[in-house]
Amino acid sequence: MATPTICLLLLASFLIQAQTQFHVHAEDQAFTSIVISQKGLDFLKELLVTEAVSSIIPLQVPQIEKSMRIPFLGSVHMVVSNITIYGIDVGPSYIKLGDDGIAIIASETTCNLSMNWYYSYSTWLAPVEVSDKGSASVQVEGVEIGLTLGLGIQDGTLKLTLKDCGCYVKEIFIKLDGGASWFYQGMIDAFEEQIGSAVENSITKKLKDGIVKLDTYLQALPKEIPLDDDTYLNATFVNDPVLSNSSIGFEINGLFTARRKPSVSEYHKKDSKALVSCSDPSKMLGIALDEAVFNSVAATYFDAEFMQLIVDKIPDQSFLNTAGWRFIVPQLYKKYPNHDMNLNISLSSPPVIKISEHNVGAIIYTDLIIDVLDENGVIPVACISLVIRASSSVKIWGNNLAGSMKVEDFSMSLKWSNIGNLRLYLIQPVMWTIIQTVFVPYVNSHLGKGIQLPIVHGFTIQNGELLCSNSRIMVCSDVTYAASYSHNRNWLLPSLLKYTHAT
Ligand SMILES: *[C@@H]1O[C@H](CO)[C@@H](O)[C@H](O)[C@H]1NC(C)=O
Ligand SMILES: *[C@@H]1O[C@H](CO)[C@@H](O)[C@H](O)[C@H]1NC(C)=O
Ligand SMILES: *[C@@H]1O[C@H](CO)[C@@H](O)[C@H](O)[C@H]1NC(C)=O
Ligand SMILES: *[C@@H]1O[C@H](CO)[C@@H](O)[C@H](O)[C@H]1NC(C)=O
Ligand SMILES: *[C@@H]1O[C@H](CO)[C@@H](O)[C@H](O)[C@H]1NC(C)=O
Repeated sequence: MATPTICLLLLASFLIQAQTQFHVHAEDQAFTSIVISQKGLDFLKELLVTEAVSSIIPLQVPQIEKSMRIPFLGSVHMVVSNITIYGIDVGPSYIKLGDDGIAIIASETTCNLSMNWYYSYSTWLAPVEVSDKGSASVQVEGVEIGLTLGLGIQDGTLKLTLKDCGCYVKEIFIKLDGGASWFYQGMIDAFEEQIGSAVENSITKKLKDGIVKLDTYLQALPKEIPLDDDTYLNATFVNDPVLSNSSIGFEINGLFTARRKPSVSEYHKKDSKALVSCSDPSKMLGIALDEAVFNSVAATYFDAEFMQLIVDKIPDQSFLNTAGWRFIVPQLYKKYPNHDMNLNISLSSPPVIKISEHNVGAIIYTDLIIDVLDENGVIPVACISLVIRASSSVKIWGNNLAGSMKVEDFSMSLKWSNIGNLRLYLIQPVMWTIIQTVFVPYVNSHLGKGIQLPIVHGFTIQNGELLCSNSRIMVCSDVTYAASYSHNRNWLLPSLLKYTHAT
């Protein structure tokens, strides 16, 4: 089964004003919302800073040339070339949400540079040209870097814009290997400012390029995430992201759809509802799934005729021969003595899932056809409709929500019969046994795999907690990021585009 994933969104921001209350409009059709808390933003910020640094270095800064007059020597031509930023130590950094968007600021950053220097001059004392060259290491200290990002939705994907980007260098220390001392001083005087602004420009340009790339990645996030060969999660973003001063919220359509046979959706009704909020602010992430999401999965299973169960083995095999039914349905035995049988169980309409504060309940509508087997083939003799009321327990399993069901009770009625009336009260214990020993294990084998939560590849849910509330399930959790996914360091989380395939 494909277990892909989507967005725990990176950084983000909003083109809307800060709001304290989030409301979804009914027509916007968002059934899953994702909220990243300040703690989650801090975690992402650290990842981004790490990725940014490793994508920036080594950074080549354009060469600088200068002619200047030195007392007694006259005019000296100086060149510094091959200026390379090879190390960056980022000082304290923070991410802050505001009306303008998301601000990321890193202060007290130090850059280490290496470069080659060269000078030449000629004077009346020495009419031949004198020149020398060597290398130098430069430390640029107190670099302040700031970015402001805007985030919106465009055609169902995220659109990241750079609203502001700046880099400011405070101090420069130059250490020459070799060279005359007069040159050292001249060099500092002549080049300090230019090296500083070259570093500022180069870093700013690199960050701008990086944001463009990040935007491309975000826009390329898939809108469809396969659950299996036939079913996918509609991960289209709807509505603009919403922000408070300490969190960002996103909404996606969130429903599952069958590829071949899109279901006629009756669950596309939704009350205006606040976005998820985890009461525990120490969690990085909150994901709220509306019960419509679970109903959409159930509906696609129904459409895919996933539940067509021909039962030809049960613990008490005597019930698969008419002889076993001799006393319960005597007319069956009389008409087909000692014939083998099988049972054909199918869903008669999509299961209905209801989530309440204390319970995840399901009503499952099935038809059970009693088939008699003879040499001419399968003869359906009667059909019993079963309405099974079940409750499920839900748990977080990796990045999936998995479940298991147990039957609370069931009711039955005769839908049709070719063998006259049946005494249902006699059949009921048999049905109960079949439900418990055949039906429940079958359904649980599917529920056990679960459905994926919309988490970007590379991130893993950790210390997740589940909260059920009226008509939705909330997952509140931290995430970890697997460093192994990022060794191919490109600017920012290239793994965003990939999927995992679990079995
Ligand atoms: C330029 O700088 C890099 C990094 O310090 C160094 O590896 C390379 O050899 C230098 N190139 C020249 C031509 O000096
Ligand atoms: C930069 O240079 C300083 C002094 O040589 C050194 O302590 C520091 O570790 C270097 N940082 C990086 C990132 O290379
Ligand atoms: C966020 O806003 C709320 C009220 O609007 C305020 O009480 C809270 O202190 C603010 N938090 C921060 C971190 O600014
Ligand atoms: C996916 O969701 C978007 C936004 O709600 C919707 O416009 C689109 O029709 C959905 N796609 C399918 C195939 O249901
Ligand atoms: C099982 O029953 C369904 C109708 O409920 C029918 O469409 C299907 O063909 C039956 N399968 C077999 C193998 O008899």
